Amino acid sequence: MNIVSFNANLDLLQPYPFERLRTLHEGITHKGTLQHISLSIGEPKHNPPKFVIDELSNADSLAKHLATYPATKGSDALRTAIAQWLKRRFAVTVNPDLGILPVNGTREALFSVAQALLSGNKDTLVAMPNPFYQIYEGAALLAGAQPLYIPNLVELNYKADFSSVSPEQWRKTEMVYICSPGNPTGQIMQREQMQWLIELAQEYDFNIVSDECYAELYYEDDNLPESILAAAHAMGLPDFDRCLAFHSLSKRSNLPGLRSGFVAGDPNLIEKYLSYRTYHGCALGAHHQAASALAWQDEAHVVENRQLYRDKFRAVSEILSPHYNLSQPEGGFYHWLPTPICDQEFSQRLLAEQHITVMPGSFLGRDTPQGNPGHNHARIAWVAPFDECIQAAQRLAAFAQNL
Ligand SMILES: Cc1ncc(COP(=O)(O)O)c(C=O)c1O
Repeated sequence: MNIVSFNANLDLLQPYPFERLRTLHEGITHKGTLQHISLSIGEPKHNPPKFVIDELSNADSLAKHLATYPATKGSDALRTAIAQWLKRRFAVTVNPDLGILPVNGTREALFSVAQALLSGNKDTLVAMPNPFYQIYEGAALLAGAQPLYIPNLVELNYKADFSSVSPEQWRKTEMVYICSPGNPTGQIMQREQMQWLIELAQEYDFNIVSDECYAELYYEDDNLPESILAAAHAMGLPDFDRCLAFHSLSKRSNLPGLRSGFVAGDPNLIEKYLSYRTYHGCALGAHHQAASALAWQDEAHVVENRQLYRDKFRAVSEILSPHYNLSQPEGGFYHWLPTPICDQEFSQRLLAEQHITVMPGSFLGRDTPQGNPGHNHARIAWVAPFDECIQAAQRLAAFAQNL
């Protein structure tokens, strides 16, 4: 059938990394007896908090919530719980009525915010890290803009090299995606670098979309992930001009299936984005809003969750560090592992020999004239239960000895 008319920008979308991984692994089978372990997908596997399950299965509450159309803007209770969390976690005051919008997880929001805030001008650039979470690129392309890839360089300890952007490029830039702690590199963007970017945003008139969905997973208590909102506030911008922070319950509370997060920041941007979302029809279900409010109010389960990751990272790092050039991420739940051989071959051979799936770094990065900064790295997601992670680390160590 000939499709007469469609959005031609859809043809610009790149295959998703998992699709490329399936193709890379086609025809490869493990001939031994080892159970398969997947370390490729960043899907949290720790238990969700029981009080959230209880709320979601409370028949009276469900009956009430399912019988109402939820407000796109979210309930007062949810926005207030989020504002209180922002105050506790980042010491910032955000008006729950004007500066906060609940979203169905950060993924849809990171995508749709580009629809709401980009001009549609073909010359528009949208800057984003490279390697990255691919949604940023798709969001830019489907909004008719061009991605501008900012390399996370090994020589900068995997931090984004914004010095690669020329004044001419900044002038065309309407939006900058940042991700801290970063997926896949695990690096935290420090306050000074955020503030430098915020100054550029005021000078060149672009908006900063700060993906902070891993903000609660960090490894040193004296190196907490910062929020763009706190960075803006500290430089005398109490209305967070041109800044939006994106947060999620997926990693913080092990609730990826709830599809619950929020966007907070500049009330002018929130107003435009709310107007877009009202038409888009993507309100978070009222029962999910009620459960989310409870999750944002509780810290005990977050502390426990963080400790589980810390224990896992300590244990797997001990096993891996004699065999790999390993660095501890500052946040998130990935090791960004330099591979002793080409990353795609590493992933193929690891599957065949040790029955483990990892994501080749080059699938998370883009080729640029300076090369693909994801090349010769693998992303390893330590989301599985402790014992499975230990087993996987032992197999990775054995694999390195045979390379
Ligand atoms: C960097 C990054 N941002 C956003 C998301 C989306 O998370 P969610 O939509 O569950 O909030 C993910 C998920 O893996 C991610 O890695």
